[in-house]
Amino acid sequence: MNPGEGYFDRVAERWDRMRARFFSTAVRERALAVAGVRPGRVAADIGAGTGFMTEGLLNRGLRVIAIEPSAAMRAQMARKFAEAERLEIREGTAEAIPIPDASVDYVFANMCLHHVERPPRAIREMARVLRPGGVLVVTDLDEHRFEFLRIEHHDRWLGFDREEVARWFREAGLEDVRVGCTGEECCARASVGDAHARVSIFVASGRKPR
Ligand SMILES: C[S@@+](CC[C@H](N)C(=O)[O-])C[C@H]1O[C@@H](n2cnc3c(N)ncnc32)[C@H](O)[C@@H]1O
Repeated sequence: MNPGEGYFDRVAERWDRMRARFFSTAVRERALAVAGVRPGRVAADIGAGTGFMTEGLLNRGLRVIAIEPSAAMRAQMARKFAEAERLEIREGTAEAIPIPDASVDYVFANMCLHHVERPPRAIREMARVLRPGGVLVVTDLDEHRFEFLRIEHHDRWLGFDREEVARWFREAGLEDVRVGCTGEECCARASVGDAHARVSIFVASGRKPR
């Protein structure tokens, strides 16, 4: 079992409010712009939570397969998007994505990678499910030193080095790899003491060769 899973089951009902305090919808806009999403295409949202990325994709006319390990998060998402015909919600993790090879046009993972046990394996999995010409976009935290995020929010990794993320993308066989700034930050206050994290958010993208 993923140790973070119990945490996300507990916070699922409040996640949308928590998320709005951590980071803004501008992160989603940036990810969608980098991918250049087009209506009618198929996207996977990995570690979808209650459907933050999914919502943006549905609003742009895409079909979405949302992958999420926490049952409570999936239940919240199912309630929120009960009317959505272009959404399929599946139980799964980034390290073993329940989607066949080469079957989606885009893969998104927003704030998921720092919860994953083996990030390079997750990137390989995300690349595996992309069709030739498909685009992977990962938005996540730059390297930081806020240890309280491990304890209070069950983060496994204190962000990532952008060069290392670019290398994982290339090792997964992706090309046109870019890692840049979203211009946005993730903010969180420690419940004990006065630590206040403000961490910049990167956007990494790469295309599967045709
Ligand atoms: C910080 S939340 C982000 C949720 C959503 N992407 C968003 O932007 O609001 C991280 C999500 O990743 C999920 N998660 C944790 N471990 C995971 C894993 N190994 N593979 C995929 N998702 C995972 C959690 O259950 C949680 O829903």
